[in-house]
Amino acid sequence: MCGIVGYIGKQDTTKYLLDGLKELEYRGYDSAGIALLNTDKIDVFKALGKLENLKNKVDNASLSSSYEIGIGHTRWATHGKPTELNAHPHLGEYSYVVHNGIIENYKELKEELIEQGHSFVSQTDTEVIVHLFENYQNKLNNPIEAFKETISRLDGAFSILLISKADPSKIFFFKHGSPLIVAQGNEEGEVLFASSDAPLIGLANDVVYLEDGVGGIASTEGIEFLSDDYSWSTLPTSKQFAQKDGYRFFMEKEIYEQSDVVSDCMLGRIQDNGIDFDEIDESLIEGIKEIKICACGTSYHAGLTSSYLFERLSKVKCNVEIASEFRYKEPLLSDDTLFIVISQSGETADTLEALKMAKNAGLKSLVVCNVDNSSMTRTADHTILTRAGIEKGVASTKAFSTQTVVLWMLALYFAKAKETISSEKLQEELHALREVPKSLIVEDKLHEKTRRLAKRYLHGHGFFFIGRDVFFPLALEGALKLKEISYLHAEGYPAGEMKHGPIALADPELFTIALMPQNLLYDKIKSNVEELSARDSTICAISPLDFELADDFIKTLKTDHYMLEFFEMLIALQLLSMEISIRLGNDVDMPRNLAKSVTVE
Ligand code: M6R
Repeated sequence: MCGIVGYIGKQDTTKYLLDGLKELEYRGYDSAGIALLNTDKIDVFKALGKLENLKNKVDNASLSSSYEIGIGHTRWATHGKPTELNAHPHLGEYSYVVHNGIIENYKELKEELIEQGHSFVSQTDTEVIVHLFENYQNKLNNPIEAFKETISRLDGAFSILLISKADPSKIFFFKHGSPLIVAQGNEEGEVLFASSDAPLIGLANDVVYLEDGVGGIASTEGIEFLSDDYSWSTLPTSKQFAQKDGYRFFMEKEIYEQSDVVSDCMLGRIQDNGIDFDEIDESLIEGIKEIKICACGTSYHAGLTSSYLFERLSKVKCNVEIASEFRYKEPLLSDDTLFIVISQSGETADTLEALKMAKNAGLKSLVVCNVDNSSMTRTADHTILTRAGIEKGVASTKAFSTQTVVLWMLALYFAKAKETISSEKLQEELHALREVPKSLIVEDKLHEKTRRLAKRYLHGHGFFFIGRDVFFPLALEGALKLKEISYLHAEGYPAGEMKHGPIALADPELFTIALMPQNLLYDKIKSNVEELSARDSTICAISPLDFELADDFIKTLKTDHYMLEFFEMLIALQLLSMEISIRLGNDVDMPRNLAKSVTVE
């Protein structure tokens, strides 16, 4: 998730920009840049990696001018590699822009602009914004109108700051999708921008948290909004609180973010009649008869979930292995297998080694990853980025939901290419995919319910999480989440397996979390849960349908697709484990014995 800052005023512009970007470091980035405007001169600095590199470049430049306007950005690569050319601010002929979000229609716009004589230097979607602005400015000779026209042509998510020599006293701003805040600074004539509170704290009191569709023009004379849809608020005073956007833990923030990051993950990829990935084309599946997936932990669970979708939708044989097991089993690999690794970090040692083995055996490889330029994205033949933004909580949440969505989209991509899906069924699946962000919205009622349940589930001798089909990997994920942050014993099982042994453990002190979707094998799971209830296990059912044997009940919304139920239940499981962990007084974000990235075997 990129970061934006902007400054107008008579104080040290460069300092505000660099300090502000530092405050946004927690969001993760792979490159950074600033543009400083002084009447007819714009100085730009960009650097890969840490902000220190950018700061060194600025220091070495020994700037003599004083700048009253500047914009800055930290970039987390989504379109195009992390390189200096792809870093923001992006330049036209005489204007610069920084942007958070994804321009969904950038390919069409780019073609149109190239035809009109514009040339592009980066691989990003963002660069079209500045060319579009200049295209209108050249015709209209009116920067405000040119900015409005530009905005009206963009689809997708875009929060923007734009500066231009065409009107060097102003910053043009707009918010749609990604967050953007404008603040009246404490010094006279000062206007500050940031994509979250942290850079503004101590420098401003009054801010506008821009709503979608609101923009304007700022100068030392003040802020002019392009609509009335805004109101002033007071800034919070704690930076730590601000970094977590007011949530108690990064895990909580990341659970709440899922609806937005999944929207980002799907932007530009869901078309009217199928799925389109910039990163791959159909040659990837030529000659492929089988898919093998390797991953660890939560990423393994996303892989296991997708194996049901690959076989059901694309009719490709798919098997999934835990990377640490795969490495030493002397696996038989044939070159008609597509090898997919899944990893949030792209650095997990076992998954990386599995990928290298597959490459050495001559298999085509693909990584589904959240971090561009990681070891895995550099090793695999192809990468699909999950666009979840940095994940700070050790317990993975938004990485899982975005991985699952990418893999579901990939299954549909294959299904269409292999003609294993009717157009009617494809439309149903696309419709369901578009609904996922709604299923991931955290309702207050649900959160409150998990808070109350958490009180009752602190004791006992263990938890069973049970489900069938894709709800089995979800049960595994629910159990993993609970054990890693609460340190309570929890196991995920396929519900039909209970009577083959595990049911011997059933008694009132065994808590069963039963995933009971309406749209997939409801009667089957119901009878499995009845068997556990008959043996006195305490049952917490998660379902849209009433179930009279449940001791506790988390009611999910009725939907018409089992994957939407999947995502709703995911939220309930994540919240429940987090609330239990909080009640136990554990460090939710940094649980004992665990590391965020496991780079050793
Ligand atoms: O970065 P990766 O996705 O490769 O990490 C894999 C696992 O280490 C990770 O999912 C781990 O299981 C998490 N702590 C789960 O919450």
